[in-house]
Amino acid sequence: MEKYINKIIRADSYDFIKSIPDKSIDCIYTDIPYLYVNGGVGHSELCVRTARKKKELEDISKGIDYSILEEFKRVLKKVNIFIWCSKMQLLDIMKWGGGYNTDLLVWCKTNPTPQTNNIWLPDLEYCVYMREFGVPLNDGYELKSKWYCSPANKSDKDLFEHPTIKPLQLVERHLLHATQPNDIVADFFVGSGTTAVACKEIGRRYIGVEIEEKWVKVANDRLNGIDQNGQISLFLR
Ligand SMILES: C[S@@+](CC[C@H](N)C(=O)[O-])C[C@H]1O[C@@H](n2cnc3c(N)ncnc32)[C@H](O)[C@@H]1O
Repeated sequence: MEKYINKIIRADSYDFIKSIPDKSIDCIYTDIPYLYVNGGVGHSELCVRTARKKKELEDISKGIDYSILEEFKRVLKKVNIFIWCSKMQLLDIMKWGGGYNTDLLVWCKTNPTPQTNNIWLPDLEYCVYMREFGVPLNDGYELKSKWYCSPANKSDKDLFEHPTIKPLQLVERHLLHATQPNDIVADFFVGSGTTAVACKEIGRRYIGVEIEEKWVKVANDRLNGIDQNGQISLFLR
């Protein structure tokens, strides 16, 4: 287990998670491959352009096998799980978390892609938070907020190239609320490494797992302060 701490591991999480001992993780913070219906929002131009290979696109849009939720429960000391998902996955995940204290957290994007046809703007992203009795939440007015408003992070997308990158500040805020210093936070779908960078910034330990070699490299570069143009910056977050 020690060998995985503060590492980005290239693996298929469905297999990898079996090597994690029972009750060894404090929090799971993850952003699962979204599930979309045909013609639904998600396979945006940016998404298709950024995920250049068909396999990459599949990996971010095929949904998940929900059996991994039982593995999440097994490896956690107490259920303390954040899952970003598409609206089609919300019901299944919230149903699974029915026995826990469950909240819906949202990120409101202030600059969603304009839509020309008969649909709402895609300006909300959803994160289900599930907590077992006994997991403490830290104090702080801002930390307690269930919503967060910001522009979709085009500059992060440009710097780290991941089509579904989440705002670092928001991830830090969530983790500051629901974890303690030095806790172990695992992300089994870590993408460009936002969860790992947040942990590094706020003094939590992390385990990041990603199936695509390209994103493993991006995440490691990002942790080392290198953007995808090869530029080093001490201030890169
Ligand atoms: C929604 S993205 C995560 C984005 C991340 N939150 C960020 O800010 O960059 C989900 C990631 O899960 C990865 N993935 C898909 N299936 C996987 C699997 N079986 N095991 C590990 N990673 C997987 C995809 O390659 C993708 O990068």
